[in-house]
Amino acid sequence: MVAEVLGFLAGTDVRLLVDATAGLGGHMREVLLAHPEARVIGIDRDADMVKAAQESLKEFGTRAEIVHAAFGDLAQVLDRAGAGAPDAILFDLGVSSPQLDTADRGFSFRLDGPLDMRMDRSAQGTAADLVNRLPESELGNLIYELGDERHARRIAAVIVAERRRDPIRTTARLAEIVRRAVRGRGRIDAATRTFQALRIATNREIDQLRAGLEAAAARLRPEGRLIVISFHSGEDRVVKGFLREDPRLRVLTKKVVKPSDAEARANPRARSARLRVAERRSAVA
Ligand SMILES: C[S@@+](CC[C@H](N)C(=O)[O-])C[C@H]1O[C@@H](n2cnc3c(N)ncnc32)[C@H](O)[C@@H]1O
Repeated sequence: MVAEVLGFLAGTDVRLLVDATAGLGGHMREVLLAHPEARVIGIDRDADMVKAAQESLKEFGTRAEIVHAAFGDLAQVLDRAGAGAPDAILFDLGVSSPQLDTADRGFSFRLDGPLDMRMDRSAQGTAADLVNRLPESELGNLIYELGDERHARRIAAVIVAERRRDPIRTTARLAEIVRRAVRGRGRIDAATRTFQALRIATNREIDQLRAGLEAAAARLRPEGRLIVISFHSGEDRVVKGFLREDPRLRVLTKKVVKPSDAEARANPRARSARLRVAERRSAVA
């Protein structure tokens, strides 16, 4: 949703933008091109993504700086960079294509790999740790709440029976267990929701999101823009609630913005994207 992001920045004075989710640096590149006065600080908790973004944005020299950190630590990142109040802060949540397409990162139920799912491989705790150690009820709640999966209890019961036989260490085995537990013929792969839930839990994504939004609202300059793209309803609920309820912010997207038909056709992964934008109020009543 690059065009929509640029649209919300058009006509505003962008000297400093923070991209809290640098990924491959795609959004950063477009902002650097559209705003020749701008400097961009990118953040990513995945060291591979930091390297990739640094490489792809080399031509912009000191205008582009990429930091290895979690956006929950946004305030510390800005302090360390000696940055003033940003004119805009962007969150493009979720995983990037290279993470999803690399079997040994363990995010994909389509590729066989270790059941890892950590965005930051120096962090403690993999998806396999959750799957093999959580009590059945906690596992069921997690899959239900973070995956919106109505068969969560049954899936948790089958996982627990299977792990007693042999610990679950690979994505292919977990996907097969979930498909067997659900036995449905839905439009999407039966393993989708369980994998999503485990990824969110492994990376504590909801806590990260709340901390990142809070720091962003606190640090933006008056009239600065907070732009958030989310990919599933749990994330979007948090974003929508935060933007509406925080007295420092004024929501600019009365209705959530969805990708154009052309973008959804060209990029199936973008289909579920939801964009919300708020402006920092000049004075808080
Ligand atoms: C959808 S991709 C961003 C793609 C990017 N906008 C681009 O144009 O290439 C999301 C990225 O955010 C990173 N990420 C997710 N949660 C994060 C967090 N809490 N802190 C820092 N980076 C995070 C992921 O590692 C991933 O690279």
